[in-house]
Amino acid sequence: MSPFNVYEDLRRAEAYAALEFPGTYYLAYRDLPALLAEHVRGTRALDFGCGAGRSTRFLRGLGFAAVGVDVSEEMIRRAAGRDPGGDYRLIANGDLGQFPARSFDLVLSAFTFDNIPGREKKVALFEALGGLLSDSGRIVSVVSAPEIYTHEWASFSTRDFPENRAARCGDPVRIIMTDVEDRRPVVDIVWPDEAYREVYAAAGLEVVTTHRPLGREDEPIRWVNETRVAPWVIYLLRRAR
Ligand SMILES: C[S@@+](CC[C@H](N)C(=O)[O-])C[C@H]1O[C@@H](n2cnc3c(N)ncnc32)[C@H](O)[C@@H]1O
Repeated sequence: MSPFNVYEDLRRAEAYAALEFPGTYYLAYRDLPALLAEHVRGTRALDFGCGAGRSTRFLRGLGFAAVGVDVSEEMIRRAAGRDPGGDYRLIANGDLGQFPARSFDLVLSAFTFDNIPGREKKVALFEALGGLLSDSGRIVSVVSAPEIYTHEWASFSTRDFPENRAARCGDPVRIIMTDVEDRRPVVDIVWPDEAYREVYAAAGLEVVTTHRPLGREDEPIRWVNETRVAPWVIYLLRRAR
């Protein structure tokens, strides 16, 4: 377990479990159905870092037979409690050995890598995830853009952490989630676009497309910077040929 995995904490797990798709989070998920419909063939899905199951339920709602895995026992317990028909499994750090090679059409990782420190660990995990993809399989990697840690948002605040501006690749950064009662800062690891691309290449993955969702004026959410700065980056990946 990463020392940065604040989600292991009970109070945090509770706050996170209550979250569905409010505010800025809505942008991370809004365009995924179209992206998946365009690029993914088949319905076997792995939700890597499923947390309290939000992203797994989302996939199940789209018709995927999704397995949610997480290193946090508390999160898995909550995910299973909210979705008794779902398949949620506790895994040891990086241990995906229970899944046969090439057994998934889609691997989704939504915000999981925001907390995973270190290049080697990221490369090893992406390599393992790539090995689980079927020949036409795709990984969808949703991560925080570095800009999220230096702006204000509908659902996050970073004004108390001006030191985030000086953070380099791999440094810890702090951000407060304003949609939940628990206002203690979340500690993430800042990892810019070029560093993710280097990790994907080292893991034998190829970027098919990248998407940076922006808020729209006609959406019923009081956007702060979301209409001009994208808080999330969505990478669609496949195994390199
Ligand atoms: C920010 S939460 C996102 C949860 C979910 N994907 C969502 O969108 O609501 C990140 C999750 O990744 C999990 N995680 C961190 N490192 C992991 C690892 N090495 N393997 C599996 N899960 C991990 C954490 O325990 C946490 O539940």
